[in-house]
Amino acid sequence: METKTKTGIGNPISRLEGNLKVMGKAKYSSEFSFENLAFAQGIQSTIASGRITAIDTSEAEKQEGVLKIITYQNALELKGYNGRFESPSTKGISPSLQTPEVHFYGEYIGVVVAETFEQARYAANLIKVTYAEDQHQTNFEEHLDSTYKPDKANGNPADTSWGDLEAGLNQAAAKIDVTYNTPIEHHHPMELHNIIAVWEGDNVTAYASTQMVENAVTTIAETFQMPKENVRVITPYVGGGFGSKLQLREHATLGIMAAKMVDCPVQLTVTRHEMFTAIGFRQHNRQRMRLGADQDGNLTAVGHDTTSHTSFTEEFQETCGLMTRMLYKTPNSLVTHRLMKLNLPSPRWMRAPGEAPGSFALESAMDELAHELGMDPAELRIQNDTQVDPSNDKPFSSRQLVECIRIGAKKFDWKNKWNPKPGHTQKDNWMVGYGMSASSRAAPYLKSSAEVTLKRDGDAVTAVLKTDATDIGTGTYTILGQTVAETLNLDIKDVQVELGDSKFPVSPGSGGSWGAASFANGTREACINAINNLKTLASTDEDLTVAELMKQAELNELTATGTAAPTEEFDDYSVYSFGANFCEVWVDKDTGMVRLEHFVNVASAGKILNPKTAYGQIIGGITWGVGQALTEHSEVEPNHGNFITRSFADYHVPVNLDLGKIDVVFVPEEDYIANPMGVKGIGELGITSIAAAIGNAVFNATGRRVRDLPITPQKVI
Ligand code: MOS
Repeated sequence: METKTKTGIGNPISRLEGNLKVMGKAKYSSEFSFENLAFAQGIQSTIASGRITAIDTSEAEKQEGVLKIITYQNALELKGYNGRFESPSTKGISPSLQTPEVHFYGEYIGVVVAETFEQARYAANLIKVTYAEDQHQTNFEEHLDSTYKPDKANGNPADTSWGDLEAGLNQAAAKIDVTYNTPIEHHHPMELHNIIAVWEGDNVTAYASTQMVENAVTTIAETFQMPKENVRVITPYVGGGFGSKLQLREHATLGIMAAKMVDCPVQLTVTRHEMFTAIGFRQHNRQRMRLGADQDGNLTAVGHDTTSHTSFTEEFQETCGLMTRMLYKTPNSLVTHRLMKLNLPSPRWMRAPGEAPGSFALESAMDELAHELGMDPAELRIQNDTQVDPSNDKPFSSRQLVECIRIGAKKFDWKNKWNPKPGHTQKDNWMVGYGMSASSRAAPYLKSSAEVTLKRDGDAVTAVLKTDATDIGTGTYTILGQTVAETLNLDIKDVQVELGDSKFPVSPGSGGSWGAASFANGTREACINAINNLKTLASTDEDLTVAELMKQAELNELTATGTAAPTEEFDDYSVYSFGANFCEVWVDKDTGMVRLEHFVNVASAGKILNPKTAYGQIIGGITWGVGQALTEHSEVEPNHGNFITRSFADYHVPVNLDLGKIDVVFVPEEDYIANPMGVKGIGELGITSIAAAIGNAVFNATGRRVRDLPITPQKVI
């Protein structure tokens, strides 16, 4: 047997598709071309609540190139639609144009199909809609008395408790009771949401930008009440998603419906402007934190109450209290989630749905508590560490939170730098501060299948790997290529990876931080099965190379499939990734501008399949965390109830200049309870608790505790 390949797992190799992407040769869903391709432009409501009373399409219809105008009056009846909107699921029906009712400003109320994109857009602007408008409810503050307990908060129990929170607070030597607000934020993947729908008889192919291919197939089949076999979804490259592409949304329904009605391929792209109402967003969360500790810093009580908003059509609440339930040991805990209905679009999943805003509250509150106790905030976290999940009494499969904190503190030189007195360090016109936070995110592992085909040419063997998994910019092509190279002992240059086609074996798609662990284990199973099949065919038990095995078996080609899935043991443990963040901020005394000087992130996330792509994931998470902390905020205009932050000119995302030096450390870890390859997820861990570390550093620099994100200059000065 030859020496192990240098391109297998654990090596920081560059993205397999990197060159294609920078050369513009990676084909995204909007880049497939068809003869007679028509273009659709959505029409959006201009009221937040009420119903359509009249639609005048006469001017639009006269325009050159216009093929069809579809509204609720002539839309295809979606037989799966029962007059109600179901709670959002990543594979649920996505009804559109079924009623004249308007539930929020910017709801799709029609679509224009024309020969060119420009014609469709122009005609859409000529359509005149008359409404009977109702009083809209878009003001969070005004509806706080109408909150209710949802059935679930993103699949988790809305409320959990153990012990007695009040008793725990009463016996505390130090306690805090503070409220944090995080604003509505919007997803902004670089690649716009898009669909090209192509019907052939009863079959439809959707070139759709989506994170989850199999769910997209189910959504289309359910929405149009057709057999899944008649639906094909293709998405070889996805330019970011972050949760906004977990489900095919209304735009996909419109595109598929339009293609059917005009009888030719139709492309519909959600514009950047439309993205603010068409694809979901992160909801505004109000979070009350009550923490108590004895004088040694042992938590006696942890209370976390979240109030948020959903739409009038669907019920969704991200689980802000999820991390609060499991991160620290405490005898008394109460975590609740409440919702109100507003005439805004349905909030949806956004990177670390729950943990991202929830960790801002918990980890800011821990900092406030440490300040009350006169304790080093890093030590307070270590003091309350636990190897058993307090929410369910299950052991953690692996938990190196204390190691993350210690390694990060050392790398950052926390002991020498941190000073409990706010405003301790001044440099010219800057106030310098230090902050830290701990983080955790569940590391799910789901059933995932793959197929590998080996081809032999003399002594040379190449492999082609196929799975319907997606690469949303995260490095799926690369880590799966490495998994094949590792398991079959090939060089990665001899491995080809094909993704994002519903014809390929089913994976759980990219989401929930389960992608890498699930896809890689499925890929490994396919490769192991290939080797075992070859050994049988070659009638040998010897440890030969795949080339030798194929030769001995007199085979030039072999295909094997494999499926990985969690065993029952997985459910006996709590499986989470952990992390710690340390940061230094500089705050301008006159302007209140916050500059991020240095950030250290430490993650324990099982085996790191590729340190380079993993580093990219963490950097991306930190960058978004910086946006959450300092710049991102969607604003609702109160009179009309629409979002007025509708471009990058007024919705600010951080750029390179906003980021300082970033160090990322992965703690060595292989968690074979999590899965056979020992991999845990990092995608959502990367954003978790970033904003808290920055906010804590701003407090340390200035003495200002800003509890309402984002921390804009006027809140600091
Ligand atoms: Mo993630 S919010 O599951 O894409």
